[in-house]
Amino acid sequence: MAVRTFGHCVTGSLDLIGIVAICLIYIPLSASSSVPEAAVFRHYNKERPISYGIQLPEGRAPFAFGHVLAEDLMSYLQEDPHGPFLNQSVPLVKWGFEEDTINEELESIWKADWHATAFWGTSKIFVPRVDKFLPSRQPPLRILAFLEAFRQVSGRAWSRILDGLQSLSRSDEELELKEIVRIFCKSLREQSHFCGVEAQIWQGGQLVMDSHTDGATSLLHLSLTLGGHRTLRIGHFKERHSPYRPQDNRRRGRPPGDEVSVWNEAAYAQDELWDIPQSTGSVYLTSPFCFEHGVRYEGDAPVFALQCRFAFANFSEAQLVNGQRTGNMRRVAEVVSDALVTAVDKIELRLPTLEEHFA
Ligand SMILES: *[C@@H]1O[C@H](CO)[C@@H](O)[C@H](O)[C@H]1NC(C)=O
Ligand SMILES: *[C@@H]1O[C@H](CO)[C@@H](O)[C@H](O)[C@H]1NC(C)=O
Repeated sequence: MAVRTFGHCVTGSLDLIGIVAICLIYIPLSASSSVPEAAVFRHYNKERPISYGIQLPEGRAPFAFGHVLAEDLMSYLQEDPHGPFLNQSVPLVKWGFEEDTINEELESIWKADWHATAFWGTSKIFVPRVDKFLPSRQPPLRILAFLEAFRQVSGRAWSRILDGLQSLSRSDEELELKEIVRIFCKSLREQSHFCGVEAQIWQGGQLVMDSHTDGATSLLHLSLTLGGHRTLRIGHFKERHSPYRPQDNRRRGRPPGDEVSVWNEAAYAQDELWDIPQSTGSVYLTSPFCFEHGVRYEGDAPVFALQCRFAFANFSEAQLVNGQRTGNMRRVAEVVSDALVTAVDKIELRLPTLEEHFA
């Protein structure tokens, strides 16, 4: 399907009302000249903006972690009167929510997979948590407009990644690397980063998600906490060749994966685990493909969160990259993390403001 971008408006097989609504919501964006400081992403770890995660061939996968707090904006997204997060008068199934089992205790939270393009109706995208190509509906309009506006105001950051990937491809003869780079470049040019949206609702109470790393759709990942509180735990290392801690308990019938689980405190030195609180308004941008992580829910209030990833529209391409834990992917991750660090340093990564949404 041909996708054309006219200024801020993406059109294709379109529903006129949807397109007009989106254009109205964010047309004034380019008119803003001053960058509001509050909306700018900062490094989580200022001393070492690049950290290292899982072991890949030739070393650990590097990642950057940028974050920003935007309470008003995230509440605005939650309070969309037509969306599923405000009150229970809109049935969750209408938005495609299903109960999804997320840990070894077989506990589940509500999840929906949305495709944030201006195409009305349903389209199929690759859903990494089930490793399938599934029809996905549009998110509520406020979220759709927010993601489009975010891609736009932070456009230079994506250009940096694109430039970095292109020079990586030029500098190397390996065909498999070129193919992976081609797939990510195509996805960036088609503006499909953050288009694969996983909406999550946890009704409140204690819950610990299993430790894991994401697939390649999360090489570039935006996480939004619209309401409630949760804690993200990340396992990270200072150096590309940092060793794992030796563990006595490795052979004592521990479950597979436990030797790298972020919940197994014997697996990490104290300063190798970050607990990063996520409350209403918390936003982060990083590459969870690259590091082991888990989420803990504790409060009584419900938690509404969105995980925004690449939406791969071609199943064979999605499958080619998604399971890869290779040296090639490590090099792609290197480009992404370097570009993100530069973009944060140069104040190119920021959220659109509420005024820009409304004006
Ligand atoms: C719940 O949502 C509906 C719209 O679907 C709205 O009319 C109603 O006022 C909302 N109720 C509360 C308590 O916010
Ligand atoms: C999907 O990607 C593969 C590999 O690049 C290509 O051969 C195929 O034509 C693509 N399919 C569609 C529908 O574009």
